[in-house]
Amino acid sequence: MTAHTLPEIGTIEPNQHGYRSFSLGKFAFARDEYFAYIQWPKGHHLMPVDAFLRALQRDIAWGFFYGTVNFDAVIGTLNHYGTVDLFAGRYNAHYRKAGLDYVETFKTPLIQRVFEAMLDDWTNATFDPFASPAETGSAFGPKNGHNKEAITRHRVTARRMVGAPGDEPRRADDNGFPVNRGFVDVPQDEPDVKPEPGFEDEVVAFNLLAYLSRSDVTWNPSVVSVCKNSLYCPTTEEYILPIIHGNDRVEWFVQLSDEIHWEVEDRETGAARARVTMKPGDVAAMPADIRHRGFAPKRSMLLVWENASPELPALISQGKLPTNPVQF
Ligand SMILES: [Fe+2]
Repeated sequence: MTAHTLPEIGTIEPNQHGYRSFSLGKFAFARDEYFAYIQWPKGHHLMPVDAFLRALQRDIAWGFFYGTVNFDAVIGTLNHYGTVDLFAGRYNAHYRKAGLDYVETFKTPLIQRVFEAMLDDWTNATFDPFASPAETGSAFGPKNGHNKEAITRHRVTARRMVGAPGDEPRRADDNGFPVNRGFVDVPQDEPDVKPEPGFEDEVVAFNLLAYLSRSDVTWNPSVVSVCKNSLYCPTTEEYILPIIHGNDRVEWFVQLSDEIHWEVEDRETGAARARVTMKPGDVAAMPADIRHRGFAPKRSMLLVWENASPELPALISQGKLPTNPVQF
């Protein structure tokens, strides 16, 4: 028996498992058959590589999203909308106390490029990081091809409302995606719209549940309507949200079907704050100073309502706006 050692980091040549290593500032990343290894000047960490790739996939596809994308309790990114912090232990009270936390800031295109290259090299042909575990193969083992088609999917973003003139193609229907196995009972009929003459381009409707029933990805909000900074971002969820999202603004959830369990923690320290079980029709406003991870035992539909106003994070962090939408 030989002791297992960390895969070599900092080379671009494939290691003995066939995977390249990557560096970004003073961070270094490597993978072997089961794990992703992350090193920084004061510490190192590992994650199961399937969980790492699912988180990495969303961070890239969402353009680093609103606020914080924690890959787990140690590693993650914080979006400054132009630059991105890559951190280790920064939002973990114990790493902070031990002085092991580390943050480095990168221009968005640089971190995006390194993350995309890592996702491409480390995702095998058998694995789709956007799919539910029951609908994809294994992420593990030695390097085995690529899955570029899966990892370069973009989330569907309407410019107005789905169905309105000028919206993006109605991907689910237009591209013939099948109804997901979790939603075979969802009616597929479309609403009957009878606008007054002259308003044919103004009054539109579509079957949102039918639209969502054909989503082939999990935990990947699409944008189905845009009204100034108000974005309706419904999504279908199954298994575990691959990231722990740290909000920089209030975020509204409307549970459209089935059930999601949320673990809600303090954004800065990770201390537990609440457990929320959402059933169909339940509405929650997630505060601006929390982080949360969802668990969906069965594929479910969730409407995420985002206020994309660019001034919100500063107003909230300066205390000019409350972190809760309602003061009880
Ligand atoms: Fe969130």
